[in-house]
Amino acid sequence: MASGHAIPSYLNSEDLGPWASYLEQIDRVAPHLGSLSRWLETLKRPKRILVVDVPIELDNGAIAHFEGYRVQHNVSRGPGKGGVRYHQDVTLSEVMSLAAWMSIKNATVNVPYGGAKGGIRVDPRTLSRGELERMTRRYTSEINVIIGPNKDIPAPDVNTNEQVMAWMMDTYSMNTGQTATGVVTGKPITLGGSLGRRDATGRGVFVVGSQAAEKIGLDLKGARIAVQGFGNVGGIAARLFQEAGAKVIAVQDHTGTLYQPGGIDAHALLEHVQRTGGVKSFEGAEALDDHDQFWKIESDILIPAALEGQITERNAGDIRTRIVVEGANGPTTPKADDILRESGTLVVPDVVANAGGVTVSYFEWVQDFSSFFWSEEEINARLERIMRDAFASVWQVSQEKSVSMRTAAYIVACTRILQARELRGLYP
Ligand SMILES: NC(=O)c1ccc[n+]([C@@H]2O[C@H](COP(=O)([O-])OP(=O)(O)OC[C@H]3O[C@@H](n4cnc5c(N)ncnc54)[C@H](O)[C@@H]3O)[C@@H](O)[C@H]2O)c1
Repeated sequence: MASGHAIPSYLNSEDLGPWASYLEQIDRVAPHLGSLSRWLETLKRPKRILVVDVPIELDNGAIAHFEGYRVQHNVSRGPGKGGVRYHQDVTLSEVMSLAAWMSIKNATVNVPYGGAKGGIRVDPRTLSRGELERMTRRYTSEINVIIGPNKDIPAPDVNTNEQVMAWMMDTYSMNTGQTATGVVTGKPITLGGSLGRRDATGRGVFVVGSQAAEKIGLDLKGARIAVQGFGNVGGIAARLFQEAGAKVIAVQDHTGTLYQPGGIDAHALLEHVQRTGGVKSFEGAEALDDHDQFWKIESDILIPAALEGQITERNAGDIRTRIVVEGANGPTTPKADDILRESGTLVVPDVVANAGGVTVSYFEWVQDFSSFFWSEEEINARLERIMRDAFASVWQVSQEKSVSMRTAAYIVACTRILQARELRGLYP
C-alpha cells in the first residue's frame, strides 16, 4: 500500500486497489519535478466523482439496480476524456485510477484533454440487448450533468463498443435537445465516428512495440509474441504484429489459454472470437489448462491487453521476454515493474503504448466539431506520427535521467499538467 498519503474516507484504507499503484507511480515522479512538485497533491485526488444508481426493468419484469461511476481526475489541460467500462468487478478505486492514468496519458501524447473514466459494476453478458440498452441510457442520463462535448467525453473500454456509444450519444442528445455527436468518441462511422478508430489502440501498440524492438535490436520477423486479452486492443495488435512477420505463439483471454510455438493464425482466431465470444476451443493451437502457465511462456514481446494488476510480484519473476508493451491500463504493479527492470526487460508503459485509442478519439472529436471527415490514410499517418514522437520523447527522458520509461512518461506528463495548473492559478 502507498504510504504517507492522505487517503480519502471513501476508499478502503486497508485495500486501496489499483489506486495504490497509481499513488506509488506518482511518488516516483516527485523528485523530478522541481518547483512544480508543490502542485503534485492535485494529482493525488480526483477533481470530481459521481456515483450513481442505475435502475432498470429487466425483461422478466423484475427491477435491477447497478452501481455506476464517472470520475474526472484532472481537467487542467482540457475537458475530461476516458472510456466507460462494463465489468462485474468495477470499483471506485479502479475507476479513479483509470481516470488518473487518462490524465497522464493525454498529457504524455499531448492531446488537449484532462483525464476521466466511467464504469458500471455489471457483467453485461448476463443482460439481453434490450436490458443493455436501457442500462446504458439510464446511466448516461444519470451522468448527463457532468459530461458534454466541452466537459467530458466518454469512449469505449472493456465490454463497451460502438453500439453502446451510439446509445450514449442519442441519450445525451435527447436530453439536451440537439444532436451532439462530439459527446462521445468510438461511435459508428455513420454517426460521426472516425475511420481507423476501431483499430487505433491496437495499431498504436504495434507502432510503439516496433519502435521498442528497434531500440533493442529485435527483428520483428519471426519474433515471438504473447498476448493476454484478445479483444479490441490485444486482437488487433496481434494481427498487426503477425502482418509484420512476427509469430503469435500464446494467447490468453477470460475463456482460456492457447499455445502454439509455430504461430497461431491471428486472423482465424479473431474470426473465432467474433463467432464464439472467446479463444476457447480454437482448433489451431494447444489449450493450456493452467491459467498461470501463460506468464511462464518464453517470448520476445509480451502484450498484456486485458485488465489491470495482471503482472505482480507473484509472477513477474517467471516472465521471460524482452519487451512488455502494455496494451491494457495498469497491468503491471510498481513492484513487478522493479522486478522486470532488474531482469533487463524493457517495459513500454500503458500511458504511451495504448494511447493510440485516445489519439484517434481526439481526431474523431475534432472531425465532429468541424463536420469535416478525413481519410483513413490521413488518420493512420497522423496517429503513427504522434505515437512515434511520444515514444521518442519518453525514450529520450528515460535515457537522460536513467529512469524507467514509465517514470519518464510521468515526468513529461506531470510537467505538462502541473504547468497548466500553475499558469491557470487556483480559483478563486
Ligand atoms: N478500447 C480501447 O480503445 C482502449 C484504449 C486504451 C486502453 N484500453 C485498455 O485495454 C484493455 C482491454 O480493453 P479492450 O477495449 O480490448 O476490451 P475488450 O472488452 O475488447 O477485450 C478485453 C479482453 O480481455 C480479456 N479478459 C478479461 N478478463 C480476463 C482475465 N481475467 N484473464 C485474461 N483475459 C481476460 C477478455 O476475454 C477480452 O479478450 C483494458 O485495460 C482497457 O482499459 C482500451
